[in-house]
Order: sequence, then structure tokens, then C-alpha cells
Amino acid sequence: MDVMLSIIYMHPIEDIRGSSSSRLGGKTIVLGITGSIAAVETIRMARELARHGANVIPVMSEAATKIIHPDAIHFATGHDPIIKLDGAVKHVELCGETSSRADLLLIAPATANTISKIAHAIDDTPVTTMATCAMGSKMPIVIVPAMHGSMYKHELLLNNIQLLKDHGVIFVQPRVEEGKAKIASRDDIVHSAMRTLGDNTFASKKVLIITGPTSEPVDDVRVMTNRSTGYTGVQLALEAFYRGAEVEVWASTGVDVPNMLVVKRFETVGDLENLAGEAKADIILVPAAISDFLIEKYEGKVSSSEPTTIELTQAPKILGLLRKNTQALIVGFKAETGIGLEELESRAIKRMKEHGLGMIIANLIEDVGPYDTKAMILRKDGKKDIFELKKSELATIVFDIIKGG
Ligand SMILES: Cc1cc2nc3c(=O)[nH]c(=O)nc-3n(C[C@H](O)[C@H](O)[C@H](O)COP(=O)(O)O)c2cc1C
Repeated sequence: MDVMLSIIYMHPIEDIRGSSSSRLGGKTIVLGITGSIAAVETIRMARELARHGANVIPVMSEAATKIIHPDAIHFATGHDPIIKLDGAVKHVELCGETSSRADLLLIAPATANTISKIAHAIDDTPVTTMATCAMGSKMPIVIVPAMHGSMYKHELLLNNIQLLKDHGVIFVQPRVEEGKAKIASRDDIVHSAMRTLGDNTFASKKVLIITGPTSEPVDDVRVMTNRSTGYTGVQLALEAFYRGAEVEVWASTGVDVPNMLVVKRFETVGDLENLAGEAKADIILVPAAISDFLIEKYEGKVSSSEPTTIELTQAPKILGLLRKNTQALIVGFKAETGIGLEELESRAIKRMKEHGLGMIIANLIEDVGPYDTKAMILRKDGKKDIFELKKSELATIVFDIIKGG
């Protein structure tokens, strides 16, 4: 008997779908592409959305097809782009009040022309018609403008942007550089899509995250610092952003913070002391590696020709200052080494009581790998959890616990 082998072909987009996270898993995003030169950025952005699990359905204006070929967009998304509307009425299927409606209309890049037409309910391209349906069916819309600086200064265009904002459309700010309003970074666009499709459970909350190491100057050249990348803090900030919070980050100078987050920079414990009075938040998380010591700074450069002694004095406790200045729920972090779990727990509880923290996350440096970590989460009410998890999962767990109360 002949055996028939049937091979199901899968588009290469399936090789990467969900490879970074499942945050956009099960979500359908209609991606409107218009005739900006930034349409060339769309390929990587669409693939990044797929890496987080999204099904991206591309729609192109005629002007966009002259800048980037529909085949390239097909490759990037796994779908033949919609470049004209016909009897299949895809605008109704994807953006109308139907059970097949997509989850988000993301227009990136959006030209001055398309933005202004949407603001006045004019729809004469596949992208603007999707938008008219989406506005009417109250579907979430994110618009990412990109154009020459002179276009972005046009007052009527800015009025149109405001008009759309007033009607609930979310805008991802362009980067104004070299006389142009350049399309926002790929990460900013993806983060904004995640926030728009997020659960909004922290929507009315102000969240402040303090992250990264302090650096205390020894002399004009040298510094005393702590080992910390600020990565955990950035992950916490993004988690709060995805869940709809108003997020502010205080980060030390070297920490890379996504553009759409409000950031204040610090270097020394003194900088944090000065900032502490400005902490206005409902929840403050402090994964920062803050120096326990201050140094009387030397002028110039200390000579290396003979041994020298540096005198360290105790630094003020920033957690204590924050506690004095706010009523916020404060979450502290404690890293120790060379002790057992019981001792770690008792030191963490002591720290929690000392500074009136609502929660503390403690771990042993030796349990922290490049990607995985073991974290003990202790709460004011005595609850304790120990997790062995990927570093990127810690932020989700922390906010789940805070939400649970
Ligand atoms: C090479 C090229 C680049 C362009 N880049 C932009 C741009 O970045 N932003 C913009 O608003 N218009 C830009 N335009 C003009 C638009 O393509 C033009 O306004 C067009 O009518 C937009 O149509 P659409 O909004 O339906 O895509 C560009 C045109 C060309 C030829």
C-alpha cells in the first residue's frame, strides 16, 4: 500500500511567533502602513510583534506600496497585505462591530495625510477606511506619526492629533531629530501595543521605580560603585507600564530606559537624597544598588605611587527617607551572600520593619544566574513565597502579588 505523506507548509513567521514572550499571544493586530519613508522600518517591527505572539494583518495605502513592496510585508507578517478593499469588506471584518474584529489597529508609520483624514472621518484608502470603522466600533487605535519636521509643526496637523487624542486614540511620540519627526523606536511601538492590549489593572496608579547602581566619586577620576545593571528595575517599570500605570523611573546614568517612560537620572546617594522629596507615587519599588557608604572626595587625582587609605562614612538610608516623605507601598530588595535562607529571611524582615516596607524581595547572589534567579518574597502581613524563575518573570509575579493585596 502506498503511504501518502502530506507535509503542511508553515510560513517562516511561525518559526519566531511567541519566541520572546506570549504577552501578545492570541491577539490580532491590524497594522496600517502609510506612505512615509519610515515604512521601511515596518518589517522588523511587525516581526517583533510576532515574537511576542501577535498575529499581524497588514493593510497598506497606495503610497506605502511605492515605498516598500507588499511582498516584503507579506514575508514579515505571513499575510498578503490588504492593498485595496473589495467585496470581502475586510474593513468591516477586521475593524467593524463584528465577532471577528481584531484587537488593535496600529498605524505605523502614519503620514500627516492619513492622520488628518482620520481626524475628519475621511476614508479613501484601505488604512483610513479601517480607521473609520475602528473609531466607530470603539476599537483601540494606536497611531505612530513619522514625517519631516516642517510637516509636524503644521498647527492644523497638531490640532488633528489633539482631536484624535480627545477621542481616545493613543499616539506614540516621534523622535524629533535632524529636523525630522522620526518614527518612534521599534521597542516603544511594541511596548505601547502591549500597554493598549494590557489588563489595565494599575490604570489609576502612580508607580515609581528606582534602579541601577549609585557611584560615589573617590576623586576627580575614580568612583566607588556597586554591581548592578538596572535590568530588574526596567523590567518592573515595563510591567507597570503594560498594566496601565503612570510610570516614573529614577535610573543611574548608564541604565537604558525605554523612551516612553518618564526618567530622572541620579549618580550618587546625595542625588537620591535630593530626589526623595519629589517621590509622588502609590507604589515605589527600589531594586537600586545604593551605596551604604559615602566618601570624602579628594580634589584632583589621588597619586598611585604609594598606598592610600579611603575613609568611608555611613550613607543615609534612602528607603527611610522615602518612608518619611510618602504614604506609598514601598517594595525593597535585599541581596546577600554567604548565608543560609533562614538568615536571609530574618535580615529581610528586619529591613522591612526598619523602613516600613510593604514587601521585600530577597535573594542570595549565588542563586542568581545570567537568566534565572531564586527570589524570596516576604510581605508585611507575614506571607512568604519562594520562586525559582526567569528574571523576566519576576516583574509579572511582583505585580500579581501587589494586585492581589
Ligand atoms: C519617498 C517619500 C517619503 C515620504 N515620507 C513621508 C513621511 O515620512 N511622512 C509623511 O507624512 N509623508 C511622507 N511622504 C508623502 C506621502 O507619501 C504623501 O502625503 C501621500 O499622499 C501619503 O498617502 P497616505 O497617507 O495614504 O499613505 C513621502 C513621500 C515620498 C515620495
